[in-house]
Amino acid sequence: METQAGKTQAGKTQPIPLDELARDAAACRRCPLCEGRTHVVFGVGNPQARVLIVGEAPGKNEDLQGEPFVGAAGQYLNELLAAAGLMRQDVYIANVLKCRPPGNRDPLPEEIEACTPYLRGQTRAINPEFIVTLGNFSTKFILKTEVGITRLHGTLQQAGRFKVFPVFHPAAAIYDRTKRELLEQDFRTLGTMLGEGL
Ligand code: URA
Repeated sequence: METQAGKTQAGKTQPIPLDELARDAAACRRCPLCEGRTHVVFGVGNPQARVLIVGEAPGKNEDLQGEPFVGAAGQYLNELLAAAGLMRQDVYIANVLKCRPPGNRDPLPEEIEACTPYLRGQTRAINPEFIVTLGNFSTKFILKTEVGITRLHGTLQQAGRFKVFPVFHPAAAIYDRTKRELLEQDFRTLGTMLGEGL
């Protein structure tokens, strides 16, 4: 029950609603990536999803369309979700960065610091059971670890109240058969865990 501005009786802060976060993000000028963007790519999907998928940053197609994972990696992500018994509209998909880094370069630490209040807000608002981290950047950010994705993929981790399931980034697996088989196996494992209510 709310007792005062945003606080519950237990003293916990209420999540900021997704549409409010999206409005803030659309006007964001917290880092220089705002200068080159076509769209802020906030996130898409079911606001009550059991599964939050977290990628790295928008690419060219995502910047143009304003939606995460709509290019080649997105097509492949849709297939991976199907292997877990999920459709795109069942999950919520977001990125660590909401704006495209020029030439798809790696996110800079200061960009991650400026942008991640949005991802934290999304995580609180959606309150998923599972966070599936795609690749090194989102895994390192969510788990606060320096351990790489090659060691962590396919292992169930915990971050606060969330189960975290790191997997390879679909873009990295498209042209690498070894990663592709591991990634597809990890999504089947995700499906099993969801089915078992794990
Ligand atoms: N790669 C990502 O990490 N995110 C996208 O939205 C698209 C490609």
